[in-house]
Amino acid sequence: MVKIAPSILSADFCNLAQEIYRVRTADWVHVDVMDGAFVPNLTVGVPVVKSIRSHTDMFLDVHLMIDKPERYVRAFAQAGADLLSVHLEADHPTRIARALEIMGECGVKKAVALRPITAPEAVLPYLEQLDMVLVMTVEPGFGGQAFLEHQLDTIRRVRQLIDQYNPACELEVDGGINPVTARRAVEAGASVLVAGSSVYGAPDIDLAIQILRGGPDSNP
Ligand code: DX5
Ligand code: ZN
Repeated sequence: MVKIAPSILSADFCNLAQEIYRVRTADWVHVDVMDGAFVPNLTVGVPVVKSIRSHTDMFLDVHLMIDKPERYVRAFAQAGADLLSVHLEADHPTRIARALEIMGECGVKKAVALRPITAPEAVLPYLEQLDMVLVMTVEPGFGGQAFLEHQLDTIRRVRQLIDQYNPACELEVDGGINPVTARRAVEAGASVLVAGSSVYGAPDIDLAIQILRGGPDSNP
């Protein structure tokens, strides 16, 4: 069954422990780290991940939207991230490879993320060692944007590559996920769905998570 990863980007940052408790029926917690350079927005860093870790046992899926992520991978792993995603556009391939190597040394799960402009085949040099590929379905930087339909082709192609080279690898889709786009993304091959505004903006969070998962009341 598809995993649901609520993004705390749409949560109340003054009440993070409580906001994470509100999504406890989900599978993972998605933490968006932005540096104001790789993306035109700033969010949270290592100390916040460390604090979150001390308040929850949930799987922490940390999405690094930062330039030269190799510099911070070890610190985020030590802060308690379970999985780190680094963007393929954020550094030279040799440095991305080094970032993944550090993740291996730290025992944290490894993922690469693709902006909408990036070709699916860009994952190939890394795919066999990855635990996850993250396909962005909005331009990274902000919550609440509309799902980019053309990214369904990217999801399908990444699914083919995963099935061919590393079938255990997860395929996460991030951006504009709601009950309608969730179904399309899963049909295209997604196995993990990030959802910020459609979970935290829902009147009944448990129900919203259940619907995104394709549960009994999932007719959008
Ligand atoms: C955007 C972030 C997303 C964001 C998704 O750059 O990577 O994780 O929180 O928000 P929604 O689900 O509202 O599009
Ligand atoms: Zn994200």
